[in-house]
Amino acid sequence: MDCRFIQKYIESLLRYPHPLLEELYTLAKKEKFPVIEPSVGQLIYFFTKLVKPKIIFEFGSGFGYSLLWSIFALLEEDIHDFQIYAVDFQEKNKKRALKIFKQLKVESYVSYLIGDAPTIFSQLGFKKESIDLILFDHEKQNYSESLDLVLPYLRRGGIIIADDILWKGKVGIPEEKNIRVSSLRFFNKEILQRKDLVSFICPLGDGVAVIMKK
Ligand SMILES: C[S@@+](CC[C@H](N)C(=O)[O-])C[C@H]1O[C@@H](n2cnc3c(N)ncnc32)[C@H](O)[C@@H]1O
Repeated sequence: MDCRFIQKYIESLLRYPHPLLEELYTLAKKEKFPVIEPSVGQLIYFFTKLVKPKIIFEFGSGFGYSLLWSIFALLEEDIHDFQIYAVDFQEKNKKRALKIFKQLKVESYVSYLIGDAPTIFSQLGFKKESIDLILFDHEKQNYSESLDLVLPYLRRGGIIIADDILWKGKVGIPEEKNIRVSSLRFFNKEILQRKDLVSFICPLGDGVAVIMKK
């Protein structure tokens, strides 16, 4: 089974909820800006509709592409009482994201904060068990630490979606020993084995994990 053909095939079937999602993805590829694959966007879109989150927090937001999949999912359901926290290190990503959000008239749903996502998460003083949906797309070596950080604030039945967890399949190659790959191996084992979580790993894009707090 050749995974490249499967990815291409799945992506060829996708129906984008908004034409801008296809445009922005094409642009990101051209610029070599790392965004989630559209099939992962579709997964985020699906789980956003299922969970109907009031609060979403994203670690590593770039120019907002991944969040748009959640925003369109909720607006299509006529849900407007939600708040999204987007975080990134880079001011230029925020500027670009806000321009896109304004163009789509969705900027009021998003607080875009600049800095280290785990640090900002800790500073925001969320209530325990108040967050419904969390997206991980920051440094892969910090996923495990971030999981411990966010779990008390995620409601039971709430979901974390973590991108890039198979790292081009390198997690499955024993000779690959770099810190990113080792950290992802630890994270993947943890999410599948912890008794307070129920999770699955899906080989879409660069691998995506869906983690639910029991
Ligand atoms: C893969 S890109 C994210 C793209 C976005 N999630 C999307 O798919 O549209 C990762 C982003 O996370 C940011 N980043 C990485 N580590 C971070 C951290 N600890 N805190 C905040 N931003 C971080 C990078 O600046 C980069 O823009």
